[in-house]
Amino acid sequence: MPDAPSRFPVGFLWGAATSAYQIEGSPLADGAGPSNWHVFAHTPGRTFRGQTADVACDHYRRWREDIALMRGLELNAYRFSVAWARVLPQGRGRINPAGLAFYGRLVDALLESGLAPSLTLHHWDLPAALEERGGWLNPDAAGWFADYASVVARALGDRVAMWATLNEPWVIMDAGYVHGVHAPGRRAPAEAPRVAHNLLRAHGAGVQALRAETARPVGIVLNIEPKLAATDDPADVAAAARADAYMNRWFLEGLLRGRYPEELRALFCAWPGFPAGDFDLIRAPIDWLGLNYYTRGVVRHDPTAPVPHAAHVRQSGSVYTDLGWEVWPRALTDTLLRLKQQTDLPLYITENGAAFPDPEVATADPLPDPLRVDYLRAHLLAAREAIGQGADLRGYFVWSLLDNCEWAAGYAKRFGIVHVDHATQRRTLKSSGAFYRDVIASDGATLTA
Ligand code: FCB
Repeated sequence: MPDAPSRFPVGFLWGAATSAYQIEGSPLADGAGPSNWHVFAHTPGRTFRGQTADVACDHYRRWREDIALMRGLELNAYRFSVAWARVLPQGRGRINPAGLAFYGRLVDALLESGLAPSLTLHHWDLPAALEERGGWLNPDAAGWFADYASVVARALGDRVAMWATLNEPWVIMDAGYVHGVHAPGRRAPAEAPRVAHNLLRAHGAGVQALRAETARPVGIVLNIEPKLAATDDPADVAAAARADAYMNRWFLEGLLRGRYPEELRALFCAWPGFPAGDFDLIRAPIDWLGLNYYTRGVVRHDPTAPVPHAAHVRQSGSVYTDLGWEVWPRALTDTLLRLKQQTDLPLYITENGAAFPDPEVATADPLPDPLRVDYLRAHLLAAREAIGQGADLRGYFVWSLLDNCEWAAGYAKRFGIVHVDHATQRRTLKSSGAFYRDVIASDGATLTA
């Protein structure tokens, strides 16, 4: 087995990731329409202490300061998303020039600062007007998304270094339609197959729309979580296989092979008969694949749990993050190598990071966050190990640049390498940010120093 290289490849993208809903705030400014997340968070009982992203990190107004922070961190790339309802307040039809202009200014400033803009078109905040029309359950959603993609690409085109259609479509389906903990808050597993299929059709239609407007590379971002059986009991082994089909293979095989895992049919009381032609759209060629990796899942059979009837089993001796996710870097290497076996596409780690408790007010500069430093070091080493074993990994984006609004969990869960005091909006570097900056400056050589 070749040794892991001590440095990352030339041209490697060193980035940080954010999403529009989680950092921008000012959700209705300058003619923007509300999103389904705006509506969801404003519905009593849906989020931690009723917290919303109305202010978030106030990035809509502080974006210049945030770009300066990224320069200070020596990043050469930034992954962000566009709020669909800023650009198209009703989700389709009339364009809101002021909303588009915000992203135009952001992209220009990133380029001037030497940061490659990596743009995600949809990171979960669907225009509320489209949710009212059935959202991802409506087969027209693919066309809505393609039209939106055209509008954004026509405006930003080749200024964007890399385009992603969707972020983690599996989470939209699972959290939004099976567990009901994300917008639109439905607990209707029977709807999941149609939602997944429409998301994938939207992705394919989006790829086609982008190709018509830009020559820049187009991809998608998936979250992959290796599943392991808690015991060698055949029921648990089968549960792990089911969980893998449900969470990982559904979207991967759809995109790469134009088919869904057979096992899924048995998981749902009814499996829709999807037209064969849809799969040509779904597997429209892409140029790169984004991997969001946080943890692995050790599971056991649990018939009382929702699909895929697998419950997570806590591992004694492991470190867990503030979101209850096991820290397990080795599975990042495994996942990258698994992807390498399935596709020749260039790979990017589009998200990786950890929520650990930090104080609400920064008491030092940089603010010590040793657990996050350990997490990042271990995962960067795991990524480098995969490169040494032949994975075509082209970049790493830490989640996240800033402590932000962690969806339904609100502001208590902090992922930033930069601390945000949510009362004052003051930004303070954390030790993890300083650590990451040194890794970048040395192309990874300091990881083992
Ligand atoms: C991912 C999301 C991202 C963030 C992290 C913690 O699933 O893409 O927005 O919430 O988890």
